[in-house]
Amino acid sequence: MSNEMKSGSFDLPLKLFKRGKVRDVFEVDGQLLIVSTDRVSAFDYVLPSLIPDKGKVLNRIAAFWFDYTRNLFPNHVVCAEPEKLEPFKEWTPLIEKRAILTRKLEAFPIEAIVRDYIVGSGWKTYQKTGEICGIKLPQGLKFADRFPEPIFTPTTKAEGSHDEDMTFEQMAELIGKENAIKIKSLSLELFKTVSAYARQKGIIIADSKFEFGRDEKGEIILIDEIFTPDSSRFWKVEDYTPGQEPPAFDKQFVRNYLLGSSWDRNSLPPPLPAEVIAKTREKYLEIYEILTGGKLE
Ligand SMILES: Nc1ncnc2c1ncn2[C@@H]1O[C@H](COP(=O)(O)OP(=O)(O)OP(=O)(O)O)[C@@H](O)[C@H]1O
Ligand SMILES: [Mg+2]
Repeated sequence: MSNEMKSGSFDLPLKLFKRGKVRDVFEVDGQLLIVSTDRVSAFDYVLPSLIPDKGKVLNRIAAFWFDYTRNLFPNHVVCAEPEKLEPFKEWTPLIEKRAILTRKLEAFPIEAIVRDYIVGSGWKTYQKTGEICGIKLPQGLKFADRFPEPIFTPTTKAEGSHDEDMTFEQMAELIGKENAIKIKSLSLELFKTVSAYARQKGIIIADSKFEFGRDEKGEIILIDEIFTPDSSRFWKVEDYTPGQEPPAFDKQFVRNYLLGSSWDRNSLPPPLPAEVIAKTREKYLEIYEILTGGKLE
C-alpha cells in the first residue's frame, strides 16, 4: 500500500470516537488520539484525492499554536508527539507528526467564531440585515473590509446539518451566561494574540473557529484544532486590497479546478489532477513554514 493510500484513513486497533471529514479520532483510556489524515474537503464534500502531508501540516500547525498560547489559554493537549509514548510507538510510521493526544472533555455545542474581515457567510448576512449574530455593524462596509474590531459570531454545532448563526443571548441560553461570557472573551483574546503574531509573518487571519470544552472542575479548556488552514482563513498581507477577497491560502487550486470542471456540486466530486495535488501540497508546506518558521521534515 502506498503512503498516500495509508494516510487517507486510519484503522488503528483502538476505539473509534469519531471520523470527521478530515480527522480520525480514537479514544484511549479516557483520552483522545486525534489523527489528521491527508483528506481534503471542498464545498462540503470530501474529495476522492488526498493531498500528501496535509494532515501533518494541519496537526503540527495546531500543535505550534497550542504551545505558543499555553500559558494564556488552557488547552486539551496531553502530548503533542504521542508516537514517542509506549502504547503508540509501534504505529510511528503511520502517525508520526499527524497525531496529538488530548484530554477528552465535554465539548460545548457551539462553534466560537471570530471575524476580523467581512467575507463568506458573514458578508451575505450583513448585506441582508446590516448585522451578524445580532451585532450591529457600521453601515457601508465593503466586501472584505476589516471590522473596526474583531467580532465574536458564534454558531450552533449541528451534526449533519448546517451550523446556524446565534446571537450572544441565544448562546448564553444554551450554555449558561457565565460560560458564554468567558468563551467570548477567551476567543477574542486568543484571536488577537495569534493574529498579531501571524501579521508579523505577513499573514492576515481573516477569521477563525474555536471549540471549547469543560473539565471536571468546570474549567473552560480550548479543544479541537486552532489556527489551522481548515479552521481559519489565511491571506497573505501582500495579496490584500480592500474590496476584494484574496485567494484562500490553501485550497485555491482545488476550488478553482472544481469550479472549472463539469462537476455539479450535487454528486461525488471528481479526482484532482496530479498537478493540482502537487500545487496544493506546496501551499500547505508554505503556510506551515511561514507560520512556524520551521520545515516540516
Ligand atoms: N478534547 C476534546 N474532547 C472532546 N471532544 C473533542 C476534543 N477535541 C475535539 N473534539 C471533538 O472531536 C471531533 C473532531 O472531529 P472532526 O473535526 O474531525 O469532525 P467534525 O467537526 O464533526 O466535522 P468536520 O469534519 O466538518 O470538522 C469534533 O466533534 C470535536 O468537537
Ligand atoms: Mg471539526
